[in-house]
Amino acid sequence: MGYKIEFVNSDKKSVELNQGDCLSEKLTIHNSPILFGCRIGICGTCAIEVMDSEHPLPPKTPDEKDFLDNMYPGNEKIRLACQIHINTNIKIRKADG
Ligand code: FES
Repeated sequence: MGYKIEFVNSDKKSVELNQGDCLSEKLTIHNSPILFGCRIGICGTCAIEVMDSEHPLPPKTPDEKDFLDNMYPGNEKIRLACQIHINTNIKIRKADG
């Protein structure tokens, strides 16, 4: 089953991914405005704002939660794209620094 990843405020077309696909493995500089650095959840380059989600995304790991609580306190819409295995249709945009 495929899920649609839509990019808000971007000219990139939506991307279809399969259940469980990791965003950092499937989104590239060619198909997405989301950039990746470390891909292991420590640099914050891939921070995204989840504008809409058909179903809840998988919960944050403790490390992702700690990182985001420090970098984006109080903003529950921010996630690290490299830590997400997709399980729903979502609309996302690159998080403001
Ligand atoms: S790419 Fe570094 S935190 Fe996601």
